[in-house]
Amino acid sequence: MSKDASMANDYHINFSMQELNKILSLVDKIDASKLVDREKIKVLINSNQYIEFISKVVDVQQRHVVRYLRELMLEKIFWDSIEKPLQNISELSAAGDLRFNSITLYLLVRALAPDVVIETGVAHGKSSAYQLAGLHANGKGKLISFDLPASGNVALDGSNTDLAGYEIGHFVPPYLRHLWELNIVDSLIGIEKISSVKNKRVLFFHDSLHTYDHAKYEIQLIRDRVSLIGIIMDNYDMDCGLALQEISDDAQKEIYICKDMGILLF
Ligand SMILES: C[S@@+](CC[C@H](N)C(=O)[O-])C[C@H]1O[C@@H](n2cnc3c(N)ncnc32)[C@H](O)[C@@H]1O
Repeated sequence: MSKDASMANDYHINFSMQELNKILSLVDKIDASKLVDREKIKVLINSNQYIEFISKVVDVQQRHVVRYLRELMLEKIFWDSIEKPLQNISELSAAGDLRFNSITLYLLVRALAPDVVIETGVAHGKSSAYQLAGLHANGKGKLISFDLPASGNVALDGSNTDLAGYEIGHFVPPYLRHLWELNIVDSLIGIEKISSVKNKRVLFFHDSLHTYDHAKYEIQLIRDRVSLIGIIMDNYDMDCGLALQEISDDAQKEIYICKDMGILLF
């Protein structure tokens, strides 16, 4: 089933396009000989509008958002561990976020301090690594992730899932893996088997198949099992975004949009 992509939604709060373009152009100018992701954090710390936006989304003071970013910047073990995988995947397509969505994800995990994050779509594991770094810094929480065996086929949403021979989630540093449960199974099958998250504060990060139907079923399956504190959706501008809009309409809650990431908190 396909939905009308022009479906109206009164509850969108967008990060300033002008500021986004400014950030992206600064990110693009980062010297490739540096650890690019760590340099991105400096760009974000210097964007008052980004700090203000995230602070509004998660309802924490701006100084805490800055503190989270500084703490990540100082997490030497994290940067030492991801330097090589970052270099390895930087040349590949379908490598996950190469700009700054993973850092936004880290901030959301820090501020919302979930007991559990459910993630669909791992690929190289960049988003997984940043969420795990957030849980690690919080001193609580675990990540349950789902992905299909890497096939190299073009998926229904047009994405290419080829990992160029790398293992799913290879990006995730060893020191974070005890917080991680990686399930190699279709998310729609795997989610049905989740049993250990009753009475927990659960955050859902969707980044698997970006079709309306798939996202809708994933969200439905999860909401039938747990009470979510929020849903974060990468590639919100694709058909999957309509599934999030429907939830937002029902709940009469805003979707915050930062770059192509949609964030709906309950
Ligand atoms: C965009 S990539 C994920 C990128 C990752 N979240 C990141 O930012 O680093 C999408 C992933 O979703 C996975 N995927 C697609 N359909 C799926 C399904 N039905 N169940 C689980 N994973 C699926 C693909 O195999 C692919 O690895």
